[in-house]
Amino acid sequence: MFDPQKFIDDQVEKTRSEVKGKAIIAASGGVDSTVCAAIVSRALGDQLIAVYVDTGFMRKGETKAVDGMLKRLGVNHIVVDASDEYFTALEGVTDPESKRKIIGEKFIRVFEREAAKSGAEYLVQGTIAPDWIESGGGLRDTIKSHHNVGGLPSDMSMKLVEPLRDLYKDEVRKVARALGIEVAERQPFPGPALAIRIMGEPTRESVDIVREACAIVEEEIEKAAAAGKMNIPWQYFAVLLPVKSVGVQGDVRAYGYTIAVRAVESVDAMSATYMRIPHEVLESISTRITNRMKAKVNRVVYDITDKPPATIEWE
Ligand code: XMP
Repeated sequence: MFDPQKFIDDQVEKTRSEVKGKAIIAASGGVDSTVCAAIVSRALGDQLIAVYVDTGFMRKGETKAVDGMLKRLGVNHIVVDASDEYFTALEGVTDPESKRKIIGEKFIRVFEREAAKSGAEYLVQGTIAPDWIESGGGLRDTIKSHHNVGGLPSDMSMKLVEPLRDLYKDEVRKVARALGIEVAERQPFPGPALAIRIMGEPTRESVDIVREACAIVEEEIEKAAAAGKMNIPWQYFAVLLPVKSVGVQGDVRAYGYTIAVRAVESVDAMSATYMRIPHEVLESISTRITNRMKAKVNRVVYDITDKPPATIEWE
């Protein structure tokens, strides 16, 4: 029987005896890296520095929430606003795979810079068992390269510390609860974040539109689910389309953007079916989006395709 408290005590003890010097961790706000930071922070105090990188593509209120959570846990951390760098690197970039590559590489560069500044000798990672098993660490072939295993800078000379290496997700959640970390059963969120929910160049303006629209979609769907009108979908979000279409503003014709709303049911994201959302919920989403972003968005559509033939994200 897995005992989360014993696990925490053992890992604090082990970290204390093995790590002799400064350590650094990239904290995303996700459960794995937060649990890891909390445990190592208990062992090392301010010798651990957690780095949260604000790429500019985070959800509404996300940076503030992560900052607050790390503060509450007493984890010594910094919030790096790297958004200018990200927006500059993505100027004119519209191809989704290029966006992903640039965002991933930029993250490594920003983190390396902070690691060099901190003088850390140890790199702490929230790797859990499925990450390294699926990355070819066990007997199985490489299924996919996980960012926290495959994405490590090859020339980083720090020693690796992975306290959660043998845990499975349900065990990490138990440890999180024992540490007093709120484990929200949040929907999966892609690494490149809102940047891949903009069809076209991610600019501050386009990210602001899709961030606001995503927040409205989440609020309205969660409200409807709490009222028993529907189940919580596997994923639900908004996408900003690059086409402008005509609408009316006051009594003049004006062109505005279109927001597509996506909500799907799925078990493992390999296939998905579009969610049958009650029309009244779709209507509140549409009304709130067009009211909130008057002059920018004049049309809201709902995506009724399954995966396959579509995918969950639009890019
Ligand atoms: P698709 O769009 O391929 O998505 O049906 C399947 C699942 O993967 C997520 N997704 C990503 N996650 N980096 C991630 O970490 C990415 O680049 C990425 N692209 C898609 C998507 O949100 C869904 O859960």
